[in-house]
Amino acid sequence: MNQTTFGAALNPAAVPQRKLHTGATMPAVGLGTFGSDHVSPAQVAEAVKGAAAVGYRHFDCASVYGNEEAVGASLEQIQRGGVKREELWITSKLWNDKHDDVIASCRQSLKGLRLQYLDLYLVHWPFPNFHPQGCDVTSRSADAKPYIHENYMKTWRQMEALVDMGLVRHIGTSNMTIPKLKLVLRDARIKPAVNEMELHPHFQQPELFKFVVENGIQPVGYCPIGSPGRPERDRTPEDTAPTEDPVILEIANRHGIHPAAVCIKWAVQREQTPIPFSIHNYRANLECVTRDPLSGEEMQAIAKLDRNCRLIKGQVFLWKDGQTWEDLWDLSGEITLP
Ligand SMILES: NC(=O)c1ccc[n+]([C@@H]2O[C@H](COP(=O)([O-])OP(=O)(O)OC[C@H]3O[C@@H](n4cnc5c(N)ncnc54)[C@H](OP(=O)(O)O)[C@@H]3O)[C@@H](O)[C@H]2O)c1
Repeated sequence: MNQTTFGAALNPAAVPQRKLHTGATMPAVGLGTFGSDHVSPAQVAEAVKGAAAVGYRHFDCASVYGNEEAVGASLEQIQRGGVKREELWITSKLWNDKHDDVIASCRQSLKGLRLQYLDLYLVHWPFPNFHPQGCDVTSRSADAKPYIHENYMKTWRQMEALVDMGLVRHIGTSNMTIPKLKLVLRDARIKPAVNEMELHPHFQQPELFKFVVENGIQPVGYCPIGSPGRPERDRTPEDTAPTEDPVILEIANRHGIHPAAVCIKWAVQREQTPIPFSIHNYRANLECVTRDPLSGEEMQAIAKLDRNCRLIKGQVFLWKDGQTWEDLWDLSGEITLP
């Protein structure tokens, strides 16, 4: 790989940037790297290289995606090709069975990704439960635990230590709710820079979105296209697809783009940071945010499409019999009792 290869078809400076509460900037579109159990590590690693070549500088990784070594080899080639480390924004995440082993888990991700530091490290889920990779939604861990704030803060203290040690630049949360975040904001020494959450036109989470923005936390949106390739276990008959919504289709038609690109444009213009996964269409997903913005009327029309349709429900984290997935998301406004 030479510098020209990663000289970027699209100028990375044309991609909107987010300013975090620390003053750091993060590209407002990242490439997701979860292969949803059917895209191999090698294919994801190839997409990471291709995406860097078209101008991506932000990559959303996680130990549980099982591909950090392959992605790391690509990141190394990208840097050898002339992209400086400080031009990249690399996120990784602590998996649920490692809440007591944060430092070692982070070092493992750094080793796999072949990096000296991460730009962002997230607690992937607030539930410290082990379940085997790829297990069915009916699978329950015998020692599954609810959210226990005291325990979460023990994990958070280790996340803060990673910042002190210089191993990560920012720390953040994922799959949180307002009542849980209120406690973390009250008790954190280093506050979360980012909250990663499901966000797409059919699941806009307006209250949580407003809460994080008002608290200076950047919302990063996963499944921004409605995750059409998600595993079977994450599908239920009630799920809807934003890319099949007639309003999205009409806007896509008007702009001459794929409905997925409408979802990405909407996300960026709403000032969240989408992290679309793609091995075939990543170029279009970046290009679309650099030109031909959606109009005010189009943004308003999409705002009205919210169906409160959560796709990633998290059933495997339920900790006792008789619960439903809604119990994980504190719908009453209070943290669900143990
Ligand atoms: N924090 C968390 O708990 C959490 C949970 C879930 C996901 N995530 C992160 O979020 C990322 C994105 O979520 P996701 O992968 O579930 O869903 P997604 O980004 O909403 O959807 C990805 C799917 O959309 C297709 N696609 C992408 N762009 C397209 C386009 N322009 N035209 C047509 N099809 C297009 C992709 O197919 P092709 O590959 O064929 O383009 C792929 O099948 C993950 O990879 C992961 O990094 C985080």
